[in-house]
Amino acid sequence: MCGIMGYVGEENAADIIIDGLEKLEYRGYDSAGMAVTDCGKLAVKKVVGSPSGLRKFSDGLIGKIGIGHTRWATHGAPTVENAHPHCSMSGLFTVVHNGIIENYAELKAELEADGYIFKSDTDTEVIAHLLEKEYNRDLKGTVSAALTKLKGSYALGILCADYPDIIVCAKLSSPLFAGTSSGGAYLASDASAIASRCDRLYRLGDGEIGILAKDSFKVYDIDGCRIRKSEVKIKSYDGTLDKGGYEHFMLKEIHEQPVAVRRTLSEIIDEKRRIKFKNFKMTVQDAKKIQKISFVACGSAYHVGMVGAYACERFLHINSEACVASEYRYKNPVINENTLVVVISQSGETADTLAALRLAKRSGAKVVSIVNVENSTIAQESDSVIFTRAGKEVAVATTKAYSAQLAVVYALILYLAVKVGTMNRKDCDSYVGELCVLPEKIEQILSDESKFEKLADTVVDSDYICFIGRGFDYCAVAEASLKLKEVSYIPCESYPAGELKHGTISLIDEKSLIIAMCCSDELRTKTVSNINEATARGARSITISDTEDADIQVPKIADIFSVLIEVIPSQLIAYYTAKKRNCEIDKPRNLAKSVTVE
Ligand code: M6R
Repeated sequence: MCGIMGYVGEENAADIIIDGLEKLEYRGYDSAGMAVTDCGKLAVKKVVGSPSGLRKFSDGLIGKIGIGHTRWATHGAPTVENAHPHCSMSGLFTVVHNGIIENYAELKAELEADGYIFKSDTDTEVIAHLLEKEYNRDLKGTVSAALTKLKGSYALGILCADYPDIIVCAKLSSPLFAGTSSGGAYLASDASAIASRCDRLYRLGDGEIGILAKDSFKVYDIDGCRIRKSEVKIKSYDGTLDKGGYEHFMLKEIHEQPVAVRRTLSEIIDEKRRIKFKNFKMTVQDAKKIQKISFVACGSAYHVGMVGAYACERFLHINSEACVASEYRYKNPVINENTLVVVISQSGETADTLAALRLAKRSGAKVVSIVNVENSTIAQESDSVIFTRAGKEVAVATTKAYSAQLAVVYALILYLAVKVGTMNRKDCDSYVGELCVLPEKIEQILSDESKFEKLADTVVDSDYICFIGRGFDYCAVAEASLKLKEVSYIPCESYPAGELKHGTISLIDEKSLIIAMCCSDELRTKTVSNINEATARGARSITISDTEDADIQVPKIADIFSVLIEVIPSQLIAYYTAKKRNCEIDKPRNLAKSVTVE
């Protein structure tokens, strides 16, 4: 969470930093700030809201070296005082920070006892004062000494007034990249913010300290010994921040789903319709050893995992589970070398998912990740990676990355089912055939949006919305409910349809809305009974199904794939409901695109 930018070189630092922060805004956007040094004179400017607000200060921010930050508040409200950078008491050190300093309260008490006066409620400010307290004119040594006192996670950009031509950086469990070019050196918490400016790009490792000067980037370990870094391949990061004629990125990305799914599948299904993963291979013997499959992820990616777990039990007959990554460690999971852990993440940086991945690896499991961002930490640390090719997703509410993840999970299950011998080649070919037509079916739904816009009128008036479904339909409603609440701020939840009468039905009245998904022929009559139980108590209802009598009829497809078809209408309903409520659709309040704190 939060975004860091830094620059030292021949150009005006403020322009480069604001430009980079705007690219990093998906990591947090409640406040922003920047510090620029000119001939040793430091200027610091901060704003509440988006980093573009810093543009008004451009005239007062002249200098060729600086650091900037876009914040997602953890410690202290989103105010100007709490926005980064934070300065030490004398102004000697200026710091931007991503992550959480877990022992900040103890450190703050010690620093206050030493006479340091705090101006913010942040954990970050302790780092600035601590650096000043530890300062012994040896900058590298001082940073090392301060870092050893910190517990938690950090990515840091540091300016020191005594060294006006360099930026110091360091990281622990929070990503940080540096790059160089003839124009200078760059620092960012995400490679995509600086890649287009750099000739060489480096990923800082945990415990490393980097020094950026206008013509060099040097890295040291915590003891001050030089480390030679290898370069990270510079990718051209697609998805310029262009809405392509759509009013919002969310709508654009909803419409990009056929392409995202097609592109993802084209990398894993060859011309003969055989599933082949570049980076993940399993022999029949290895596959037969799998005793348990755990899908681990957060938010929408977790909902993809739910589909995976349901499908694994059905098609592979292997014990499977979907686990919310933030709970994985606390449930003392039974993991061993016969466990396959499938980690799912769009950003590849989600802190809880990463922690779960590390636990799984430590416990001997084989970890395959499904990731959208190539240079991400999860992609780097997994045993194997299968990339989704959704392209850059800008809207905080995921749509195209979710669909692409589902496509990979479907392919993975079919691949494994053939390996373990629970599915014959003929059946697999038939499923792969259906999988490949999913993009067309999505196109069909997207071809007429007007009905979703109209349905949003019903949704917008509801005080309480409950999504219900059974089996795969339940996995789909879980995602639909998250999408709607995330962007429209209407309280809603999702339930297995049969669970409603075990308590939740007491919430139902005339201001409630039941949105039911029922594409499974086998389960339809049961779900319809559950809808009736709610409408008999005054609730209105919307049904999404592949039958003619549904309020929203979606194309018919094998039930395993129906989730990907059912969620499309729900994304559009969420979008148009949020629009009618004048919500900040692409950047819903309190959220961030990449959740890098636990
Ligand atoms: O980057 P990740 O896929 O790991 O992110 C996981 C969740 O934070 C994410 O899916 C979140 O729930 C979305 N905002 C939902 O739209």
